[in-house]
Amino acid sequence: MRSATLPEPFPLPGLRTRRFGRFSCFLPQVDSTNLFLKEMAERLPSGAVCVAGVQTAGRGRLGRTWTGQGKDLPFSLLIRARAPLPALSLCCGVAVAEALSELTGADFGIKWPNDIICEDKKICGILCESRAAGEGEICMVCGMGINLTQTAADFARAGLPHGGSVEMLTGQRIGPAAAAAAVLNRLEPLCDRMAAQGFGSVKARFAARCVTLGRQVSVIEEDRSSCGRAVDIADDGALLVAFPNPGGRGESIRTVLAGEASVRGLMGYI
Ligand code: BTN
Repeated sequence: MRSATLPEPFPLPGLRTRRFGRFSCFLPQVDSTNLFLKEMAERLPSGAVCVAGVQTAGRGRLGRTWTGQGKDLPFSLLIRARAPLPALSLCCGVAVAEALSELTGADFGIKWPNDIICEDKKICGILCESRAAGEGEICMVCGMGINLTQTAADFARAGLPHGGSVEMLTGQRIGPAAAAAAVLNRLEPLCDRMAAQGFGSVKARFAARCVTLGRQVSVIEEDRSSCGRAVDIADDGALLVAFPNPGGRGESIRTVLAGEASVRGLMGYI
């Protein structure tokens, strides 16, 4: 049961949005910022943001968990709308990668569908969830966990060999408020554009950062995996993968959906 009083505000200096982050709150400890916003959605305005110090039950994609060791920035954004925003999590990936690149001057890419990568290490995970909100509205919650200050030793201790943080990879210490504001400044116009024109209008920005394209990948779906070459992004954000035909005659393109598969490089994580 959530407390009836709303948590303390979390100021976001540098915020230039009209809606995203205009209401922003901080919880020193919470089970999951996604769960919090989903449960509190009726009492909060669209664009509300919840930032946590520590999550005790952070949620990841495909049923996984998220552990930030208390040195990440776990935050979620609530969007209420009449229709779902397609490929919202990919859009969040573009916003995070562009914002971190702008803040640090380093190069941040996207491992399809939405892991943010710097020098082959995962810097941020994104989980978007949605539910019906009554009166024909849908509540979408975009959850992002940005690793800010963990060290290589922190990731080794946590058994996360592919994990990296902004400070570990760029040498720069970015504060949580500055990181969240920079992401929201990018995300609001991206979402507006996507609501009006679909993901196709954002696709080029996604593809420009997508480190998966052109690589040999292993596509893991439920209990089977198959190897192919990632060739393109579809207009709905799906990954198009070319698989060799049996008998070695040419190849066939298959559509891989973000909610149903994970993709690994053949030589490692990417
Ligand atoms: C993944 O890489 O599997 C996605 C991880 C998403 C983690 C973030 S942290 C903030 C928000 N709250 C959650 O419970 N999960 C997301």
